Amino acid sequence: MRISTPLCLAVLAAAALTALSQTPPAQKTPAAPKAAASKPKWTAPKVAQAPPMGWNSWNFFAERVTDKDIRAAADQLVSTGMKDAGYIYVNIDDTWEAERDSTGRLHTNSKFPDMKALADYVHSKGLKIGIYSGPGPKTCGGYAGSLGHEAQDAQMYASWGIDYLKYDLCSFIPEVMEKQEPNDKAAQMRLMVAAYDKMSKALKATGRPIVFSLCQYGWDSPWEWAPALGGNLWRTTDDINPTWDRIYAILSQQEGLEKYAGPGHWNDPDMLEVGNGKLTLAENRSHFSMWAMLAAPLLAGNDLPNMNPEIKAILTNKDVIAIDQDKMGRQASRVYSDGEVEVWARHLEGGAMAIAVLNAGSDRYSTHPFHLSLIKFGLHGPQEGKDLWTGKPIALTENMPIELASHDILLVRIAAPK
Ligand code: GLA
Repeated sequence: MRISTPLCLAVLAAAALTALSQTPPAQKTPAAPKAAASKPKWTAPKVAQAPPMGWNSWNFFAERVTDKDIRAAADQLVSTGMKDAGYIYVNIDDTWEAERDSTGRLHTNSKFPDMKALADYVHSKGLKIGIYSGPGPKTCGGYAGSLGHEAQDAQMYASWGIDYLKYDLCSFIPEVMEKQEPNDKAAQMRLMVAAYDKMSKALKATGRPIVFSLCQYGWDSPWEWAPALGGNLWRTTDDINPTWDRIYAILSQQEGLEKYAGPGHWNDPDMLEVGNGKLTLAENRSHFSMWAMLAAPLLAGNDLPNMNPEIKAILTNKDVIAIDQDKMGRQASRVYSDGEVEVWARHLEGGAMAIAVLNAGSDRYSTHPFHLSLIKFGLHGPQEGKDLWTGKPIALTENMPIELASHDILLVRIAAPK
């Protein structure tokens, strides 16, 4: 018999009510022991519900990093106010590793005499600590990788109190993928996915909540498979460096990936270069603004003890950080571009919206003024917002001219579009 939907629901509801009001039948079999029946299954707290924020040693120190630098970075995160602004992870990148002993246990090299003591120090500052390895026999820097020792390494990280692992593909490519499957790209990719899955399971088995960061340069669309194996973030491109051209090239490669980002799983356009190299202040501002628009992990990579006030002001701009950390976790998309001026937007919690207008060109647009089209965002009429770099109110109107210096940005938050 076919029952119409409302009737069907009514029948089910009535049956449920009847079942609830009936006295349960006398038990014929002994009840299961209470403890076993009621013991809640332990699940690790969720990590990376917002894009991870912190600092990583690689972009400034590379292979020179030492225990002392990590402690200094932790101290600086606290004293500069970066910790209060949300920078929580202090991540040691490559070059901490020595050799394995006869039991397979990996030792730290002389730059890191006591990893547990270092982790305790970082934790004592109210911060978290991250480490680096890879699925191959060697890391990118040629140090010992985790191949064949995944569970052992994961247990060791947990025993130190590690909170974050960046897992970098590197030598797994020539030593495993290309050796085992020389002529089959699809099979090579399957090996890569399995290697990440293995470490993910090893981390889970420790019972410690550890952020799992996949670093395999965006090969074979990690955004499609990394979330299912428990990846919290995945690199989308090859390495960043502190030049505008590289930063802009990476930004351009993020278009189309917005649907893969969300709480617990983020696209990673690589760590920040704010304050590094010869980037101008405008370039530093634009880089930081766009990473926030992308809901990217904000892992500073600069020389914290020698950070100048302008760079500190950029990295601790709370309004811009709030865009990055917005609860909805919606990555921005490029709405349109006009010449070399690009307009990106993202939706924020409570109906708010962030709009970024970026002059990616090398000229000032006085000779070729750019006009903002609000209609292209579905916005009608003037919009009241806040300019997140001046901190002042700004009114956006249809077709308003906007002049930006080369590589500079206008970043506006509109409370709730009209
Ligand atoms: C790769 C990664 C970098 C860094 C180095 C370390 O190049 O992409 O971010 O971790 O390895 O060797």
